Amino acid sequence: MADRPPTRNQYFATKSLKLLLEEAESEGENRLRRILGPVQLTALGIGAIIGAGIFVATGAAAHNVAGPSLMLSYVVAGITCIFAALCYAEFAAMVPVAGSAFTYAYATLGELFAWIIGWDLVLEYAVGSATVATGWSGYFQNVLAKLGVHVPKLLTESPWKYNAVTGGFDSTGSLINLPAVIIVIIVTAVLVKGIQESANFNAAMVGIKVAAVLFVIGVGAFFIEKGNWHPFAPYGWTGLSFFGHHIAGQLSPTGEPRGMLAGAAIIFFAYIGFDSVSTHTEEAKNPKRDVPIGIVTSLVVCTILYILVVAVLTGMVKYDQLDTAAPVSQAFAAKGIGWAEGLIATAGVAGITSVLLVMMLSGPRVFMAMARDGLVPKGFFGDVHPRFRTPWKSTIAIGAFVICLAGFLPIDALLHLTNIGTLFAFVIVCAAVLIMRRTNPGAERPFRCPMVPLVPILGILMCLLLMFSLPAANWLRLLAWLAIGMAIYFFYGRHHSVIRKQMENGEV
Ligand code: ALA
Repeated sequence: MADRPPTRNQYFATKSLKLLLEEAESEGENRLRRILGPVQLTALGIGAIIGAGIFVATGAAAHNVAGPSLMLSYVVAGITCIFAALCYAEFAAMVPVAGSAFTYAYATLGELFAWIIGWDLVLEYAVGSATVATGWSGYFQNVLAKLGVHVPKLLTESPWKYNAVTGGFDSTGSLINLPAVIIVIIVTAVLVKGIQESANFNAAMVGIKVAAVLFVIGVGAFFIEKGNWHPFAPYGWTGLSFFGHHIAGQLSPTGEPRGMLAGAAIIFFAYIGFDSVSTHTEEAKNPKRDVPIGIVTSLVVCTILYILVVAVLTGMVKYDQLDTAAPVSQAFAAKGIGWAEGLIATAGVAGITSVLLVMMLSGPRVFMAMARDGLVPKGFFGDVHPRFRTPWKSTIAIGAFVICLAGFLPIDALLHLTNIGTLFAFVIVCAAVLIMRRTNPGAERPFRCPMVPLVPILGILMCLLLMFSLPAANWLRLLAWLAIGMAIYFFYGRHHSVIRKQMENGEV
């Protein structure tokens, strides 16, 4: 294997592929169980992808931002993700260890970048989990209301909601989003118990939600009225801003960009999750083959399903009459198919639960990889439970963090932050593939991203386009998160880094 020696500067010191692979084999007691095959990995991917994005966010995105052209927004976001997925797949097969983009960055860009991306991934998975838990809560309360059960107002949502006009937060009159907190506690408990239980629980949920999605497409297609697709792009085709400065397309009454491209930046959330397959490489039986299969298959399947669901939804109900809390089940209610409404709503709850499960499964595995390198305390974040074989302490720590976010922050702020954090990770992974092809041209690549450098470059450009379509406040929040991360790195990680010790001992 052609391998570049690490540089002498700690910040840019890279871990060699050889070392990464050796470490993964030598973790002894702290090894995870290799039990996942290609079908389970694909199911984990689908489990992480289909959720609050399609079941919840689609309604508001079609209603307020893109109209029926949201179908094309899904195509644009799907293509962006496919470029990133091909890059993830190349890395996951080449460096089949937990840690995902963190590990890929360590092998290519050096310790400082690896830390930045690892910290960013924790943001993606933790804030993403909180977004999904908040979406779950809204959807669940909708189902309960149908049954005549109402959660007391004080316990229904976060105490604040974002006001796009003032840029501040207004009071909602609620104290805490209690359903969101409870579901995070339940999911954390399942995750601590074990990967086998988690995978089984996930497989059942995935079956239910895929059946619901196929049902929506198959039955809903009979209720399409083509007239509902006109006008196709009521808010135009673009909707772009640059750090909050409007560049192209229309603005909403609250001053946010709208149009087909702006829709893509929002519903990008619906695709997040395929990347989490790459955090399970150490639990895969044959990671070099099965992880690329899991990543690419789950994404392609979901892209096709999503475009069909949005075509059906906007064909069933005029975009400006779509419900914004539970658009899919409400579309069936609007057509007088009451029994289907209950069925879809229940499947939606199950589907969103499985997304939460996989997202909360991924964060601790990134921390584990960072702990192995000494960047966060190993005794805590790297500790695998002797009986359950799960990274239980970091699972509980991330669970507690997600509870705070989901209990007290509004869904739109959480969703935008998740999107920008994930897009940033995708940019780094695409760039890392380009760099690795130059620095380690001879390394064994069981899966090769096609058309390099075109695919990674297009991936980077499209991710940046979507990042710049998000409101400027998100850039500031992302930078604030990264600044906290840098402080931790300079006070802790830099001094405890394994590679630093190896450099001091002259081992590398
Ligand atoms: N893609 C996931 C969802 O839509 C995050 O819920």
